[in-house]
Amino acid sequence: MIIKASNDVTTAVVAVMERTPDRRLQEIMVSLVRHLHAFVRDVRLTETEFREAAAIINEMGKLTSDTHNETVLMAGSLGVSSLVCLLNNGDDGNTETSQSLLGPFWRMHSPPVPNGGTIVRSDTPGDPLLVTGRVIDRDGRPIQGAEVDIWHASPVGLYEQQDPNQADMNLRGKFTTDADGCFWFRTVRMAGYPIPTGGVVGRLLAAQNRHPYRPAHLHALILKEGYKVLISQVYDPDDPHIDSDVQFGVTRALLGDYIRHDDPHPSESGVTTPWYSLDYTFTMAPGEAVLPRPPIK
Ligand SMILES: [Fe+2]
Repeated sequence: MIIKASNDVTTAVVAVMERTPDRRLQEIMVSLVRHLHAFVRDVRLTETEFREAAAIINEMGKLTSDTHNETVLMAGSLGVSSLVCLLNNGDDGNTETSQSLLGPFWRMHSPPVPNGGTIVRSDTPGDPLLVTGRVIDRDGRPIQGAEVDIWHASPVGLYEQQDPNQADMNLRGKFTTDADGCFWFRTVRMAGYPIPTGGVVGRLLAAQNRHPYRPAHLHALILKEGYKVLISQVYDPDDPHIDSDVQFGVTRALLGDYIRHDDPHPSESGVTTPWYSLDYTFTMAPGEAVLPRPPIK
């Protein structure tokens, strides 16, 4: 097709996309081109802005490595990761779900810990946190033998591999649910933390006067044959950034009941005051138990 005016471009490109043999790829590319062209028209993108956009995408690729993923960070900062998660879970996005973002800090092969054990592996000053979790199916029945991988940031907001003061695999552990679907452990109360701001995402946040913080949260990845892998985060409602998460990951279903206790713990020894408790129930949906690819090594 020989182009006469700007509208012809969209017609010509969509016609080419429609000839894509793979049906799903065809659907995606036709829609992508329509939306992309509409966007360019909507903002009347200038030639300078177009060249800047290409440079930014190139920069995101160059900033991405084995230990950092700038593209995933940008997807989160634009709310795309959260939207994809919600649309693909909770009855196609219509109901609440325990699913959340994986985040960039999950590591495979965290060490097994017996229920009642601790995931504090090196001196980590902070308030004690006693977690009890339960894993159930959509009908409310307990799921026994589920493998629950837990990880979280320290009380100063750093994951172990970001912090030379923490032992390898500190604040990480893998539990197995009992006959009631329960698992429980001791740790320290985590803090919220800023996402990395040294790249393109950091410049965007600065340009929009946005803070870079994620509210404090506990990560869980739950594996059980016959169920879709449950990737979850349980957020602390008392965090000052609970309603302004830079990655838009906080949903109502993921608000945890982090309770402060000022009296000594009734049975556990060595629990200083104040201490905190968290009790949360994870709901798994039927599906394929396929682990995600770890975002870092
Ligand atoms: Fe996190």
